[in-house]
Amino acid sequence: MSPKIPEPTGFPRERAFLVGVEIRSEPSPLSMEDSLAELRLLAQTADLEVVGEAYQRLDRPHPDTLIGKGKVEEIKVLLEETAADVVIFDTELSPRHQRELEEQFGNQVRVLDRTALILDIFARHAHTREGILQVELAFYEYRLPRLTRAWTNLAQQTGGGGGRTGSQGGVGLRGPGETQLEVDRREIRRRIAFLKRELEKVRAHRQRYRQQRRKSQVPVISLVGYTNAGKSTLLNRLARAQVYVADQLFATLDPTTRRVELPGGHIVLFTDTVGFIQKLPTQLVAAFRATLEEITESDLLVHVLDVTHPNAVEQWKVVQQTLEEIGAGAIPVITALNKIDRLPNPSAIQALSETFLHSVPISALTGEGIPELLRVIETALFEDYSPMTVHIPYTEGHMISLFHEHGKVERVTHHDGYVTIRGLLPGRLIARFQPFTRRIKTVTQPDNVHEPVDLSDS
Ligand code: GTP
Repeated sequence: MSPKIPEPTGFPRERAFLVGVEIRSEPSPLSMEDSLAELRLLAQTADLEVVGEAYQRLDRPHPDTLIGKGKVEEIKVLLEETAADVVIFDTELSPRHQRELEEQFGNQVRVLDRTALILDIFARHAHTREGILQVELAFYEYRLPRLTRAWTNLAQQTGGGGGRTGSQGGVGLRGPGETQLEVDRREIRRRIAFLKRELEKVRAHRQRYRQQRRKSQVPVISLVGYTNAGKSTLLNRLARAQVYVADQLFATLDPTTRRVELPGGHIVLFTDTVGFIQKLPTQLVAAFRATLEEITESDLLVHVLDVTHPNAVEQWKVVQQTLEEIGAGAIPVITALNKIDRLPNPSAIQALSETFLHSVPISALTGEGIPELLRVIETALFEDYSPMTVHIPYTEGHMISLFHEHGKVERVTHHDGYVTIRGLLPGRLIARFQPFTRRIKTVTQPDNVHEPVDLSDS
C-alpha cells in the first residue's frame, strides 16, 4: 500500500496575511520582527503571495482569540482590503483559538498557524518512503484535534492512490446516528495507527542497517544546522554527491549518507539531516525522530552555520539548544562557518573564528576552507584523545574490548556485574562511550583493581 500524501493546506499561490504575536511570558530566541521575517520566507517557500502583515505584543494570550478583540477587528478590515484567502499566525494556535478566530473573521478566510505552514512545506519536500510517512503522520496528528464541521471532505483527502487502510471507512461507513465528523475522526485515528505501524517497520529496517554500520567502525558525522545554512551544498562538495540543493527552506527532509575519504586516508560517513528552525513544533520534532536518531547516534557533528545571516548567532543557539533537547549534547561538535565567500570584509572571518569555538571558516559553494575542515575533522576523530571514565556491564563485552583496542587504558576496576575503565579515548569514540559514563549502582564493593591491561594491537 503506498500512502498518498494529502494536500495538507493546499493553497497554491493563495493570498496570505501574516500575523506576528509576541507573548511576553513566553520568550522566543528571535525578536517578533525577525520571526515574522522568517514566516514570510516560509510562506514564500510554500508558494503563497504575502499581501499584508500585522502584529501584537501581549502579556498573556487571550483565552478565546489569542490576540485582543480590538486587534481581531483591525485585522478583519485588513483581510477584506487585501482580499486575503488565508491568515497565518506566527505561533502555534490551539484548536480553540483557531475555531474562534475563523468565526470572528466571518469564515471567509482560513486561519492557519506556523505549524500548518511548516507541515505544508515538509509535505512538498519529503521524498523517501519514510519521509512521506512521517509527514503524513504529523499532518493527521496536527489535524485531529482541529477537525471542524467545515472539514468533511476526508474521503477525498485520504482516499485514492491506494492511500486508505482498506476499502472501508470514510463516508461509506457512516453508521446510523453518527455525524460525518465522528466518522472522520475515527478514520483519522485508524490512519494514524496504520502510519505508525508502517513507520515502525521502516525504522526496524534502518536500525538493522545502523547496527551493521556501527560494527564496521566507520565513524559517522552528521551535518546539522539551521535550515538553508548550506548542509546539502557541503555534502555535495565533500562527496561530489548529487544531493538535492535548493535555495528554499527544508529542501532536505531525509537523511542522506555519503562515504568520504579524509586527507590522511581514513574513511568516514557524512550524513545530511533535516534543517532546524526556531519554534519547530514538538509534534514535528517527534515525527522526524528518525532523522534526529541519526544525529544522536553520530560520532561527530559538523554544525553548519550561515555566517552571512543577520541572525546567525540566534540560529546557532537554536541548533545547540535543540541538540541538547534531543540528547545529542555530549557529541563533539565542529562548527563550519559557511558562506564566507559572501562576506564583504574578509577580516570578519577572524572575529567569527574567535566567537565560535572549534570552528573552521568555509565556503561550501567555492570550496574555500574545505581541506582545512577535513583536516580538523580527521584530527578530532583520530588524533585527539580525551580522558574518560566508563562503567561497562560485562554483558557489553564488545565495548570493553573496544576501549582496550582503541583507547589508552590507565586503570581497570572490577565490580559485581560491571567494570570501570579509566583512560583516554580518541574523539571518534567519545559519543559511543557516553552512555557508560553514569555510575552503575551495586551493593558490592570493588573486588579487585588492575593497573593497565593494554590489549590493543597497536
Ligand atoms: P535545508 O534543506 O533547508 O536544511 O537547507 P541546507 O542547509 O541543506 O542548505 P542548502 O545546501 O540547500 O543551501 C541553501 C542555499 O544556500 C542554496 O542556495 C545554496 O546554493 C546556498 N549556499 C550554500 N553554501 C553556500 C556558500 O558557501 N556560499 C554561498 N554564497 N551560498 C551557499
